[in-house]
Amino acid sequence: MGFKKKYTAFIIPAALAVMVSACGAEKEESPDEETTQTEASAQNQESEETTAQTTETALTDANNDEEEKSENRILIAYFTAAENSGVDAEASASYSEVDGEAKGRMQALAEMIQAEVGGDLFSIQTEEVYPADGGELIDYAAEEQEEDARPALSTHIDDISQYDTIFLGYPNWWADLPQPLYSFLDEYDLSGKTIIPFNSHNGSRFSNTISTIQELEPNAEVITDGFTINERDVPDAAEDIANWLEGLGF
Ligand SMILES: Cc1cc2nc3c(=O)[nH]c(=O)nc-3n(C[C@H](O)[C@H](O)[C@H](O)COP(=O)(O)O)c2cc1C
Repeated sequence: MGFKKKYTAFIIPAALAVMVSACGAEKEESPDEETTQTEASAQNQESEETTAQTTETALTDANNDEEEKSENRILIAYFTAAENSGVDAEASASYSEVDGEAKGRMQALAEMIQAEVGGDLFSIQTEEVYPADGGELIDYAAEEQEEDARPALSTHIDDISQYDTIFLGYPNWWADLPQPLYSFLDEYDLSGKTIIPFNSHNGSRFSNTISTIQELEPNAEVITDGFTINERDVPDAAEDIANWLEGLGF
């Protein structure tokens, strides 16, 4: 596994991420890729999994054509390992417990933002299923980054023109955006829109991801005062999020 020079400074936090992920990995069962992929992509399929139900609702919200649309021009798009890694065990390190419910960290933050500002939730999901094992995910993501990959997405927004403001949420992966975020930003031209980043991390905060988003969407207004929080503080982030949003004028 080769690493780019610019990530050298992030080896310590990334190593912590390995440790945290590895702890969780011991408890994980081997992934059932077929089942998970079906859950991730079937928007109308009934599922007993709370997370899958929430995802389906989110996807429906972002893709429907109901009358709310004309009044509601906020999209909250996020990527989280929990909805892409083939892990369905609540004991997994990919999940945080928020208000007694197990969910992906970025999903939890996205929902906290939605509780304050409304808008549609959209879960960025990939066709491929990422490794469920924390250590394997770390290595896999490093290789994907080295290749500058653009993993194919399995979820899509019907009509991006209906949104003016896009909250964009992602974990810090190897001091950069996860590669599916590059796929997302390739797919949609966000010119003229306001992009508000939010992220969670294990010590590296945003790294340079906000500048990267601005480079990839040069005609969008990218808010540099994004919301960033350590992974361990995600369950208690609601008040900080409310204060941050107030500061932004919401
Ligand atoms: C592949 C991978 C790489 C990561 N790299 C970093 C990193 O470079 N710096 C950091 O602070 N955290 C890093 N982390 C930790 C994640 O940013 C953190 O756990 C985040 O809260 C995950 O959000 P999620 O569970 O919603 O996907 C990494 C995690 C993974 C899985």
